[in-house]
Amino acid sequence: MTDLRARVERVVREVVAELTASGALRPGPAPETVGSRTPLVAANWKMHKTAAEARTFVAKLRLSDGVETVLCPPAVLLPVLAAALPPGNPVRLGAQNVHFEAQGAFTGEHSCAMLRDAGATYVVVGHSERRSLFGETDHDVARKAAAALRAGLRPIVCVGERLAERESGATFRVLRAQLTASLAGLGLPSPDPATLVVAYEPVWAIGTGRNATAAQAQEALAFLRDRLAELFGHAWTRGVRLLYGGSATAKNAPELAAQPDVDGFLVGGASLDPAAFGAILAATAAARRGREAG
Ligand code: 13P
Repeated sequence: MTDLRARVERVVREVVAELTASGALRPGPAPETVGSRTPLVAANWKMHKTAAEARTFVAKLRLSDGVETVLCPPAVLLPVLAAALPPGNPVRLGAQNVHFEAQGAFTGEHSCAMLRDAGATYVVVGHSERRSLFGETDHDVARKAAAALRAGLRPIVCVGERLAERESGATFRVLRAQLTASLAGLGLPSPDPATLVVAYEPVWAIGTGRNATAAQAQEALAFLRDRLAELFGHAWTRGVRLLYGGSATAKNAPELAAQPDVDGFLVGGASLDPAAFGAILAATAAARRGREAG
C-alpha cells in the first residue's frame, strides 16, 4: 500500500513537473516564505561529547538573531540538551540518523517518534558517513526521509559527490541521481517548505580542511534547487533551505553564506567548539544582512 502510494505520488510529481516545464501549468501563488528563507546553521556533533560537555557547550554558545540554530548531538544527548536549554530559547534539536520503521526488532535503532519524544525537530538523513561506513543506500535514505516527514520530523537530506566523481566531471549527474532517489516517495510539497532541508556536502570536503569554494557551493546548490523545482514546483522550492557542509569554518563562512543559494551550513568539526560555532552563526547572520541590504 505504501509502495503504491509512493508510486502514485511519483507519477503525479512527474506529470506536474512536465506540465510546469512546458508552461502548460503555471506555478501557483508563492507561499509566504518565498524570498525570505531564514538561514539555518546545524551542528553535526557526530560521535562526540559527553553529557557534561554538551551542557558546557550550551552554556557558552552565543546565538545570532535571524539564524535558526540546530544542534544534532548523539541521540542519547537529545534529552540532555533539551533540559539544558533555557525555556523559550530558539535552539532546535536534531538527530543524526533514524530508522524508517515505527517500531520493531531493530537492535540499536531509534524511531521517529522516539526522537521527537527526546526533543528532536530535525533529523539528518543520508550523511555520507552513513552511506559509506554503514552501507546506506538512496533507497534507505528515501524511506528515512519519508518516515521523518510523516512523523512530523524535518529531514535534512544530505547529498554530495566523491573526489573521483568531481574530477571525472560526474558531479551534477551524481547530485541529480542522489537527490531524486533520496527524495523518492516524499509526500511533498507540504504547505510549509521549511519541512525539508537539503545539505550539499561534497565528500572530499568533509573533515579534510578543504572546503568547496563559494563558486563551487553556489553552483551545486543552484543546481539542486533547480532539480527540486522540477520535482516540487518553483514557488515551493524557493522556500526550501539549502545548506553547505564540508570544512565550514568562521573563516570561510562569510564568503559562502553570501552566495544566493547558500541558506546556511551543516557543520562538523567546527561545531564542537562553542566559540567557533557561534562565529559561524554570526557570519551567517551578517551575510544575510548584507544580502538583504545589497
Ligand atoms: P566537517 O565540518 O568536519 O567537514 O564535517 C561536515 C559534516 O560532515 C557535517 O555533517
